[in-house]
Amino acid sequence: MIEIKDLCASIEGKQILKGLSLSIKAGEIHAIMGPNGAGKSTLAKVLSGDPSYTIESGEVWFKGQNVLELPPEERVHLGLFMSFQYPLEIAGVTNFQFLHTAYNACAKARGQALLSEEDFATKLEEKMALMEMRSEFKIRNLNEGFSGGEKKKNEILQMAILEPTFAILDETDSGLDIDAMRIVATGVNHLLSSDRALLLITHYQRLLNYIHPHYVHVMVDGKIVHSGGAELALELEAKGYEWIC
Ligand SMILES: Nc1ncnc2c1ncn2[C@@H]1O[C@H](COP(=O)(O)OP(=O)(O)O)[C@@H](O)[C@H]1O
Ligand SMILES: [Mg+2]
Repeated sequence: MIEIKDLCASIEGKQILKGLSLSIKAGEIHAIMGPNGAGKSTLAKVLSGDPSYTIESGEVWFKGQNVLELPPEERVHLGLFMSFQYPLEIAGVTNFQFLHTAYNACAKARGQALLSEEDFATKLEEKMALMEMRSEFKIRNLNEGFSGGEKKKNEILQMAILEPTFAILDETDSGLDIDAMRIVATGVNHLLSSDRALLLITHYQRLLNYIHPHYVHVMVDGKIVHSGGAELALELEAKGYEWIC
């Protein structure tokens, strides 16, 4: 489904990704773990098209296209989704307006029917119930004043609305208490299917108790240095990263 080939990227002249390759098939869940500063968030931001990064070399193939050549919104329309480690707050735009606009932009690009405000409200309520979010979150400004956990839930709500085929979740578990983690995991698991894939970036093993990865990769200094099955996450939790570095 997604094929990352020898990706090298830098920011402000500093090389962060140093030849990263990763292949993810439909139906698979992959987790990337690794020490602070390894470049995990950089990978997620480069895949989503953040213009602050310079791509030095490499390709990222998704649905027959090298997505590095596409603007961020076209990547989203194609079915790529990214949940940020630090979700942005946007004043003056309600969560409802944001999600409705994003939904219809994707629907238009994908040749699907657009939804009126009324029809979208029904869809949104159903997804908010799944995420155990109170209806006040519809009319609040996007992420403004949301707690860390509420922002993360809202990211998964966006994912539930946009129904991506490939989602990257960057430290979605950070700042979540156990109940919020269970709700977030339920939301994510609900969206998994044999024709979708997921890349989880996480610091800790605990999220992986709720969303079970098929493969775990360790990223150090801009590339993947070790890969294994779900048991690798437990080993990393017990032994740290130093034995691999
Ligand atoms: N704007 C920036 N300017 C310079 N260095 C940056 C910038 N953004 C990130 N970095 C550096 O890139 C490296 C990787 O960061 P990041 O991808 O956030 O790591 P991780 O998510 O694995 O903790 C870090 O050393 C960080 O300091
Ligand atoms: Mg990070």
